[in-house]
Amino acid sequence: MASSRNISLVILICIFASSSYQATSLISRDHIMSMKHEKWMSQYNRYYESKEEKVKRFKIFKYNVDYIESFNRVGTHTYQLGINQFADMTSEEFLAKYTGNSMPSFQSSPVAPFKYENVKDVPPSLDWREKNAVTPVQSQGPCGSCWAFSAVAAIEGIVQIKSGVLTSLSEQQIIDCDGAFDGCQGGRMEKAFEFVERNGGLASDTDYPYQTMEGVCSTNTPSSLAASITGIGGVPQNNETAMLMAVANQPISVGIDPSLFQFYRSGVLTGECGTNRTHAITAVGYGTSEDGIKFWLFKNSWGPWWGEDGYIRIQRDVDVVEGMCGLAMDLTYPIA
Ligand SMILES: *[C@@H]1O[C@H](CO)[C@@H](O)[C@H](O)[C@H]1NC(C)=O
Ligand SMILES: *[C@@H]1O[C@H](CO)[C@@H](O)[C@H](O)[C@H]1NC(C)=O
Repeated sequence: MASSRNISLVILICIFASSSYQATSLISRDHIMSMKHEKWMSQYNRYYESKEEKVKRFKIFKYNVDYIESFNRVGTHTYQLGINQFADMTSEEFLAKYTGNSMPSFQSSPVAPFKYENVKDVPPSLDWREKNAVTPVQSQGPCGSCWAFSAVAAIEGIVQIKSGVLTSLSEQQIIDCDGAFDGCQGGRMEKAFEFVERNGGLASDTDYPYQTMEGVCSTNTPSSLAASITGIGGVPQNNETAMLMAVANQPISVGIDPSLFQFYRSGVLTGECGTNRTHAITAVGYGTSEDGIKFWLFKNSWGPWWGEDGYIRIQRDVDVVEGMCGLAMDLTYPIA
């Protein structure tokens, strides 16, 4: 009698112990994720307005972290993802807030055809940063101003190449003053170039700093316009050979499909990508990776903590003429 009672007690204890073990492991997985979320929140200074918002953001964070970790566990990708400042946003929210290139329309400004005779030398690899033609990476923040950042990086490049002086120039002056309906709602690079040409120059970032929102055009015209351009050029579409010659000549503004960009951390982006070019970046070089993949080097405007210190490398010379993510479809540059 006594012994059978003991057995049933042992069984009960075992069941209890094992179910409590399972519960603990579930709780601790969520607990670990929740600690990760808290740590991430303090790292990126994120606060949520309400408990409901936090619960919602935690769910998205967990989904994204699971996706990023399982992507990185596959050993065969040519690039890696990272848990960055965009980890609590869905892909739709992210694209809506952090991109902002309008597709070129028939109203686009006329651009001068690309002058191949300008291209003196096309080396096998090139990095305009090494030639001091690229300013530090900035963050556009939640404002669809990528088009202004893309254009300004190209202007900074050609001005440095012509004059030897590298100055960080003002995106904000373009956003506030170009008189178009764009600003944080998205815009076009050639409209930015057109404004700088019409305005007789562009202020420095120091004189007209970035605000992450569209403001009133400052009537206090900055005393010195730091840089000017004389025209706008376009590279023939869908031809990475022509693009190579253009980038060998100067940094180029590029419209691109950003759908694979949100969690990019490092490596050369390869694989399936669309051509919905809602984002704009600046081509500042090209080369071949250690494992033999030809790439383009682009400066982005999502801060230095995104990608490779703010830059992304994307596969070059793919077998579709539009280029990876449509990178050969929408190429413009300023003429100094
Ligand atoms: C692409 O551009 C290169 C360089 O100008 C040119 O030689 C080539 O014919 C172009 N290819 C096509 C398909 O237009
Ligand atoms: C292009 O991307 C935008 C922003 O993410 C989206 O609203 C739109 O539906 C996309 N268009 C196509 C054709 O996929």
